[in-house]
Amino acid sequence: MRSPEPSLPAPARLVAVALLLAVLTGGVVGVDGYGRARRLRMKNKVLEMFYHAYDNYMTYGFPLEHLPQDYNGSALTLVESLSSLVILGNITEFERGILWLSENLTFDVDVRINLFECNIRLLGGLISAHLLAKDYSSQLKNGLYHDQLLHLAESLGNRFLPAFETPTGLPYAWINLKVHIQNFGFSQTSKGIIVCMDQSFTGSLILEMGVLSRLTGDSRYEAAALRALRKLWSMRSSLNLVGTTLDVFTGKWIGYSSGIGAGVDSFYEYLIKAYILFGSDEYWDMFHAAYLAVQKYHEADMRTGEATHWQLTSLQAFWPGLVVLPERYLLDYGMLHPTEKYYPLRPEFAESTFYLYQATKGVPKRPI
Ligand SMILES: *[C@@H]1O[C@H](CO)[C@@H](O)[C@H](O)[C@H]1NC(C)=O
Ligand SMILES: *[C@@H]1O[C@H](CO)[C@@H](O)[C@H](O)[C@H]1NC(C)=O
Ligand SMILES: *[C@@H]1O[C@H](CO)[C@@H](O)[C@H](O)[C@H]1NC(C)=O
Repeated sequence: MRSPEPSLPAPARLVAVALLLAVLTGGVVGVDGYGRARRLRMKNKVLEMFYHAYDNYMTYGFPLEHLPQDYNGSALTLVESLSSLVILGNITEFERGILWLSENLTFDVDVRINLFECNIRLLGGLISAHLLAKDYSSQLKNGLYHDQLLHLAESLGNRFLPAFETPTGLPYAWINLKVHIQNFGFSQTSKGIIVCMDQSFTGSLILEMGVLSRLTGDSRYEAAALRALRKLWSMRSSLNLVGTTLDVFTGKWIGYSSGIGAGVDSFYEYLIKAYILFGSDEYWDMFHAAYLAVQKYHEADMRTGEATHWQLTSLQAFWPGLVVLPERYLLDYGMLHPTEKYYPLRPEFAESTFYLYQATKGVPKRPI
């Protein structure tokens, strides 16, 4: 007996074979539209890009640095790479980095550093790597992990503390790691020398310094950062907006423009993350009020609420990630067009994408 004619027309059969092949080669399209093969390719691409940057830094740059500003030799890129090494599964290299840092990194150096940059990168990097080293200590080969990174973080945190010794409790923007108070950096403006700083620097210390206090049992770091944050919040306008630049001696604003971009950005980020991390309603209340205000006024003069301009910069790309952290949010996008043709390796966009993916698993909740 003749076998029945295939019921599918030729083009459809080709499609079926293609689909079968796709299934066999692991190309099943997932709920988010990414097949396994594509995921693998992208994963390998990420690994390739990471090692391209990391290996070239270790070969040609390490331990020299461009950041934090004048601190050349801090091996900062290594510190910042440690948590990535763990996430990418390279515990051997992670351990090599820890050993190098514990033997060679010192903060007893006569250099001027930017408190904000040093906090988010160096202190944050050391604390994150410390927590990961605790988690992975059983996989470390060359001896037990004995909190070397935490000791380094503590030594750095101790050098931050004199920065808060101002009449307002708002920290200096620049400090000298060795000489402390005698050699602070001052910002030069057209009006002469004043001590000013971006306010987001003040609002962006609580996570790292708070965790440092919790890990060491020494409450001074968290207390200093919280005092500065409360002072900053007390300086908000009647519209609940904060400006960009302030004088840490007088506690007066110098730059009145509000928004979510440079100078203000991480203020919002740190409030919501501090609430998530430490669970205190005080952070939530500040975040909630600040968030409503900035949603209402966008980029505006903090005193009057009068619109300045509305632009999109790569620093602001953290905002989608921030709004996906609270349960509910309202967004209102204006028309945007690019004006800068370069991309300075900002992590904000990647972080936002990551949080959006975690919140949706790639499936939009509603049709776009
Ligand atoms: C760091 O030090 C190296 C070697 O001394 C020097 O070549 C480089 O220009 C310095 N970089 C900065 C940013 O100071
Ligand atoms: C870890 O990183 C080092 C330095 O790039 C590399 O030589 C090594 O092969 C990596 N190991 C793994 C498991 O990826
Ligand atoms: C500390 O630095 C020196 C000089 O670069 C290096 O020879 C040594 O191996 C480093 N220590 C560790 C534990 O890696």
